Amino acid sequence: MTIAEAARLKTEIMRDAKDKALAKVHRRAKAAGPAFLHATTNGRYLPVPRDFWTSGFWPGLMNLALNEGEDSTCRAAAIEAEDGLFDILQTDEFFGLHHDVGFQFMPTSVMRFRQTGNPDARRRGLIAAHILAGRFNVNSQAIEAWNGAARSGYSIIDTVMNLPLLFWATNELNEPRFANMAKLHLETVVREFIRDDFTTHHIVQFDSNTGARIAAHGGQGHAPESAWSRGQAWAIYGLAIAARYTGDGRYTALSRKIANSFLELNAPHGVPPWDFSVDDVQNAPRDSSASAIAACGLLELGDLGDPKAECEAVSLITTLTQRVACFDDSEDGILKEATSALPHGTHVSDSLIYGDYYYVEALLRLT
Ligand code: GLY
Repeated sequence: MTIAEAARLKTEIMRDAKDKALAKVHRRAKAAGPAFLHATTNGRYLPVPRDFWTSGFWPGLMNLALNEGEDSTCRAAAIEAEDGLFDILQTDEFFGLHHDVGFQFMPTSVMRFRQTGNPDARRRGLIAAHILAGRFNVNSQAIEAWNGAARSGYSIIDTVMNLPLLFWATNELNEPRFANMAKLHLETVVREFIRDDFTTHHIVQFDSNTGARIAAHGGQGHAPESAWSRGQAWAIYGLAIAARYTGDGRYTALSRKIANSFLELNAPHGVPPWDFSVDDVQNAPRDSSASAIAACGLLELGDLGDPKAECEAVSLITTLTQRVACFDDSEDGILKEATSALPHGTHVSDSLIYGDYYYVEALLRLT
């Protein structure tokens, strides 16, 4: 896509899509209120427990809409949901929290603090950062993803997207210790997760006591050596954000190389398959959320000075808009054809709330 073509699409398609997507968020705020959501079933979002890892994205989507102008319904619902998230700390739900406190508290408390300067929101974000820092294993030099003896030592590519919570805490408190853990985790990602062809593992298991690498696992991907499309997207975006916080050009370069691999693998498809390595990839279920996340990563690379990244993001978002966006109320989701975890049989070709979130984020950044 040429720069002129990207500029035309930005003006015509992106603005229209942004207006329609935000209008839908406002309508959904009235219908769903302060809910915790994950995925659609038969086109409708059903509530999930508030300690589920995606619980920050629906209030976060309302917060994104608030970046475009105040709206009392969205504001009240987003704050009520954030209050509910914070209440987790007062109950046994606390024991269910894991590395995704970043996904839960960045789109909620941290975004509200950035928007309003509210001190409670800041404190909540900082408490979440302390919880994430507490997951760092000094032996593996990695943040552990989950809880329980059976998954002790498991680290996953998705965690790169939770690291911004640590970088933010360092900036807020002027204390390097949070960012230092994030940087050590990133070194482990660079060494252990990224393959020579610039695709990534989903899970790498370490021995919690010695730090030795035990194995890679397929996780939500097809196989230990496969290229789970959303994992690639988390890596593109997470490394680009890490580059912004650290100024370390190695992360920019790696994000770009993983993006090149993603774009090349995705070229025949438009909307990515859930895993690029499956048999019959042409007919495999799609994961539109991977494309939305990758587009945000490309926009971050563009902000870091990458000359072609914005055009690539426009191309991904245009395809999503033309092929899988739903702006009316026939379904609750904004992006159709997303896949949560095919190996676990959960939500294949449904809408995912984080697909909607990153699609709207990309549209807002582009316009
Ligand atoms: N494990 C987070 C995701 O589904 O991407």
